[in-house]
Amino acid sequence: MKHTETENKYTVIVATSSVLLSLSVCALFYSTANVADEINAEGRSSPETDVIGGIKAKPGQFPFMGRLLPRNASSNDRGICGATLIHPRYVLTALHCIDYSTAKGLSVQVGAYDLEAKDGERIDVKNIFFPTSKPIGEYYDDGSGEYVQVMELYDYAVLELTKPSKYPFIELMNPEEFALVKPGELTTTMGWGDNELDERHEQELTALDEQGSKPDHILNYVNVPYVDLEVCKAVGGQYSKIGNESICAGFKEGKKDSCYGDSGGPLLATAGEEADKQVGIVSWGEGCAQPDAYGVYASIPYHLEDIEYLQHGISYTQDYYDLKLMSQSRHGERLDYKNYRDSAVQLGSPQVHEGNITRNTCPEWLAPNQECYVDVTWENTNDQRVIADVVSMPILTPELELLSFIKFDYASDAPSYYSKVLGNAKLDILAYGANWEIDEDIFSEGVSSLTNPKINVGEESVISIRDLPPGKLQLDIMVDNANGWDSIYFNVNGQSYPFYNASIEEEFVSIPLPLEQDNNDVQIIYTNHGNDAKIWIDDLHFKKLEDEII
Ligand code: ARG
Repeated sequence: MKHTETENKYTVIVATSSVLLSLSVCALFYSTANVADEINAEGRSSPETDVIGGIKAKPGQFPFMGRLLPRNASSNDRGICGATLIHPRYVLTALHCIDYSTAKGLSVQVGAYDLEAKDGERIDVKNIFFPTSKPIGEYYDDGSGEYVQVMELYDYAVLELTKPSKYPFIELMNPEEFALVKPGELTTTMGWGDNELDERHEQELTALDEQGSKPDHILNYVNVPYVDLEVCKAVGGQYSKIGNESICAGFKEGKKDSCYGDSGGPLLATAGEEADKQVGIVSWGEGCAQPDAYGVYASIPYHLEDIEYLQHGISYTQDYYDLKLMSQSRHGERLDYKNYRDSAVQLGSPQVHEGNITRNTCPEWLAPNQECYVDVTWENTNDQRVIADVVSMPILTPELELLSFIKFDYASDAPSYYSKVLGNAKLDILAYGANWEIDEDIFSEGVSSLTNPKINVGEESVISIRDLPPGKLQLDIMVDNANGWDSIYFNVNGQSYPFYNASIEEEFVSIPLPLEQDNNDVQIIYTNHGNDAKIWIDDLHFKKLEDEII
């Protein structure tokens, strides 16, 4: 529950905050070298072809396979990432897949096969769980003076579903079984990937900038050999940073691989006589299917204990971003808890770091299937930035501790030129941190534009508009990627709005952000990945639903 105190004004907040989760965004694209040759190895046969160099799966062959989708996406939407059902109520995906998402913005199509056939079972995500104690990405200087992002080192997240799925789930491989998998043995990965590289990027394939085209709506899989860690590290660059938390798979000559959009999907392997188990999660690679650059997968055996722990049967909000920014002087959240375990759990009293607990309906013993909630409020008394607050609720039996991280920033009034340049005097604009600048020379619609501030690598700059009634928020945007790709994202009510740096042609494009709820929050998030991309925005205006009838 949100307690907001806005009048009839729409509030625009601009803030700069450091990226708490620096996640590589390999959005909805994969690429595929056209390779018709197939592998026929024991236990892994291959019918017709198409992931990169992959093969069409048969209906029902991988019933645990799922597609992570924005909650309001249509059922044939390409979605965000792959995902696997690992328990009737839990799904496994890659951590970088859920960046900038909140649970209420996501759903999973479990058992998906043909994206055009509306098959599978669409279930909303209730909570996102991921390991908070571990490093999840960093930037390093690769020696050339350029900052390169290390992909997620712990690239996994467990999603709790709002109801159990009827589909069969996939078993996860443990370290003992994994020890039986030898380099050279074939593993299987899958997804709804593209088959061809986008020529525009073929010259400079990097994990961050490559995109594919011509996606197939049928689930494709590809068999790739498991690669020894030392061999994989010897590739150099980002590969040299990995350890046992990652598994590599692929051919030295490339040609077959998972790719963009396949992230979050599985890598399957067989330990001895056992049936296939999931051994990895599609994470990253330098380009796709390139020679001497393998696919990198988060290792399930390595993380197994943690992944099992995250399926602990207590439904609660682990990580809550609240869109990261808040303008109100008083702010509140309700945190819900439900016990799905067979036995009652004993709760300690909730603790909050910066805020106040205003209501707590949680009993000392939370019975099976019992629910309760804790309301927390924060006062913004001194304009101070709160990056993360923590509400902890110890569970005394058995040993579990539930931590909800509440992350947001406070913001204050922006310089008055913001509203002038953005083109809508009615918007009440707030700012935090480095200000966007006016660029007089570049304009659309006869007005100057705001251009992104120069911020450090890993920092982000966010413009946030809160409490908008139903309608549309329209703005013009242009991105200059000449020097590389930083990221620009739109987030509407916790869901990413698909805009893939599309304006590399250096033209302003008009983005109409649909506001479908009674009360809407929008964010424009710019992250500096060290690439000096430039972004301009202007002509930001809100259209009420009634104005839209034409
Ligand atoms: N990060 C990509 C995604 O989000 C997956 C990249 C996999 N790359 C590879 N060469 N196997 O879809």
